[in-house]
Amino acid sequence: MTRLLVTGVSGMLGANLALFAQTRGFEVLGWTNSHPLLNAPLETRCVDFRDPRILAEAFADAQAEMLINCAAQANVDAAEKQPEAAFRVNAEAAGELAKMAHGAGVPMIQVSTDAVFDGTRGDYRETDTPNPLNIYAKSKLAGERAVAEANPDATIARVVFYGWSLTGSRSLAEFFYNNLSAGKPVNGFTDMFFSPLYVGHLAETLLDMLQKRLSGIYHVFAPVSLSKYEFGVRLAREFDLDANLIRPISALDSDLPTRRSLNLSMNTEKLQAALGKPLPNQTEGLRALHADFDSGLRRKLLSFHH
Ligand SMILES: NC(=O)c1ccc[n+]([C@@H]2O[C@H](COP(=O)([O-])OP(=O)(O)OC[C@H]3O[C@@H](n4cnc5c(N)ncnc54)[C@H](OP(=O)(O)O)[C@@H]3O)[C@@H](O)[C@H]2O)c1
Repeated sequence: MTRLLVTGVSGMLGANLALFAQTRGFEVLGWTNSHPLLNAPLETRCVDFRDPRILAEAFADAQAEMLINCAAQANVDAAEKQPEAAFRVNAEAAGELAKMAHGAGVPMIQVSTDAVFDGTRGDYRETDTPNPLNIYAKSKLAGERAVAEANPDATIARVVFYGWSLTGSRSLAEFFYNNLSAGKPVNGFTDMFFSPLYVGHLAETLLDMLQKRLSGIYHVFAPVSLSKYEFGVRLAREFDLDANLIRPISALDSDLPTRRSLNLSMNTEKLQAALGKPLPNQTEGLRALHADFDSGLRRKLLSFHH
């Protein structure tokens, strides 16, 4: 059994990834920070990335054979208010982990973001020049650079995803699902484009990438992009909810507190060629989201949270 360390296991990606990796036969060790998991079906440890000494000690104890770093200050508005903490967790600590993984010969994926781009053009490739607009995105780009410098073998996976989370409200899918199923009207941005993968498909793809020992930057997204409005409409259709409750508006007319990139459609040709297969599209993703709801995944994830 390969021992896989998943940091940020109390987050949306980390928790989904840990459960999926177990079904693939990995022995998973998960790290949390301020939200220990309740009834966790895996070994967990609380490790605060703000403390370099604890990070080094915990990595040595972990005896990991593979590592996926999902931990981050991933709340865009919180990062804006606390830039030092965001850079510490998202950049410095990621670099320290990468160095330790390199020293121990542990293959590693650093999870990064589409938000490293400014969203003025879209169809971004790995070779395009990033231009992050906010503190969160700047700190994640600094994390990519710290990881690449400390560990040239590491994989940097830029992602965006949706799914079920431990809080029940972390992802855009849950925003639409929760409001529409309560009959509440919501806004959907018609001019904000993204290429989100279902988190289960993302988990599967990250494990494939680790096993193939890919290194360098990869775009891990759905192969077709869509607006956030269209995403909501498609989700409503998948769950038989009322899509008319979604008001199409421009993101420029909204009251989002932190500046965000508009066109984050992403080019995934490099990864599809490396894996030798197409990445799942949104129709497949929304179907999988629904199937996982029906099989009780949402309830299970909620039960890990207090
Ligand atoms: N959500 C998206 O669509 C999206 C898009 C692009 C990129 N990403 C990237 O994907 C990764 C996972 O995102 P997510 O949405 O799953 O995030 P999330 O739900 O906000 O979870 C963040 C995780 O990081 C942990 N964490 C936060 N501060 C920490 C600290 N000081 N020390 C150690 N761990 C800490 C949290 O632990 P506690 O909760 O226990 O404190 C939690 O487990 C992140 O790298 C994020 O930047 C996400």
